[in-house]
Amino acid sequence: MSKPTLWLRCEKKAFERRAALTPTTSKKLIDAGFDIYVERDDQRIFDDSEYEAVGCKLVDNSTWTSAPTDVPIIGLKELPESDEPLPHTHIQFAHCFKRQAGWDDVLGRFHRGGGTLYDLEFLNDANGRRVAAFGFHAGFAGAAAGALALAAQKKGEKLGLLEPYPNEDAMVSGVKEALGGSGKGVRALVIGALGRCGRGAVDLFRKIGLEEDDIVKWDLAETAKGGPFQEILDVDIFVNCIYLSSSIPPFLTRDQIIAAGPSRKLSVVVDVSCDTTNPFNPIPIYNINTTFSEPTVGVDVGSVNPPLSVISIDHLPTLLPREASEQFSADLLPSLLEFPKRSEARVWTDAEKLFKEKLAEAAQEQSAKK
Ligand SMILES: NC(=O)c1ccc[n+]([C@@H]2O[C@H](COP(=O)([O-])OP(=O)(O)OC[C@H]3O[C@@H](n4cnc5c(N)ncnc54)[C@H](O)[C@@H]3O)[C@@H](O)[C@H]2O)c1
Repeated sequence: MSKPTLWLRCEKKAFERRAALTPTTSKKLIDAGFDIYVERDDQRIFDDSEYEAVGCKLVDNSTWTSAPTDVPIIGLKELPESDEPLPHTHIQFAHCFKRQAGWDDVLGRFHRGGGTLYDLEFLNDANGRRVAAFGFHAGFAGAAAGALALAAQKKGEKLGLLEPYPNEDAMVSGVKEALGGSGKGVRALVIGALGRCGRGAVDLFRKIGLEEDDIVKWDLAETAKGGPFQEILDVDIFVNCIYLSSSIPPFLTRDQIIAAGPSRKLSVVVDVSCDTTNPFNPIPIYNINTTFSEPTVGVDVGSVNPPLSVISIDHLPTLLPREASEQFSADLLPSLLEFPKRSEARVWTDAEKLFKEKLAEAAQEQSAKK
């Protein structure tokens, strides 16, 4: 590989329409001397022709395994489950550094193949902040889905298929319409309100017309007293947007919900953080990730109590795929431009160090299982 190269793989997760590289950022990388290979993909929000037009080299769908092993592969979400060793360098969200379900199996594939994983969740700037994240649009879309679920519940219905919106305005008007013209009168509580997802959730609630006093914004200061919290039961929609880094008392429990009886206001929980399989999940009232085709899962709250739905979709920003991809990819660009010097560029050396630590932990875990 003489020129710096990146290979954009297609996404395999159903409904995932976002891309780690957009035509706009691909063009900037090509202008900086990169070769960009792009797998043809009908699922992606950007047409193949948009990449071709800026000088990307189009290759067949799902062919990255045949790329030379010195070509780094970039994508967003997890690779399909398999035992195949991974010899390439991958830049992606792998969701395996926080001991999520199957974490050691994923890292085992890198160990056996000799490949390297740069996890996008752990590319940090000098202040320890993520260089690129989808948070804002995740919170925005999660709050929208929560409001749609509330509207459906009020009509005695279950929220049906969610489909990506062409843009933010269309999403805001769709939600307002479902709520009968405006969200005025709805009360929401956002935990993690100072973060990226939290700010997005608050922004959506404002845009659909909630009164400012009806958007309760909590962050570390408010949860320091320790849950479970009665305040969550007193709003219509609770949106969890925290970045979970250690064990904390639960925010909400099933016993607490059942004890509240028929007077409970809380109708919808949106777990944007989606730490569903994390042993420290602070919302232990559900145990599956929901999907765009089945966006809600009911909580067993007893037959006399009002219903409670949970939304736990782990790829919410894809409801706004174009804007979310453009923002993410633009934020990632400065780091990608440094990628050819990854043996000395801090953002990449830190990420590689973390990968090696996690790889060692996974090897230990796997040998303990034997
Ligand atoms: N569901 C999805 O589609 C999706 C998409 C993107 C991100 N996420 C997830 O959302 C989470 C938040 O991401 P982000 O980018 O907004 O993070 P962030 O770091 O920008 O914000 C997290 C916020 O949570 C607060 N916080 C942490 N612990 C808390 C606690 N115990 N009580 C109250 N507040 C607390 C922090 O102070 C911060 O303000 C992450 O877990 C991320 O993986 C989910």
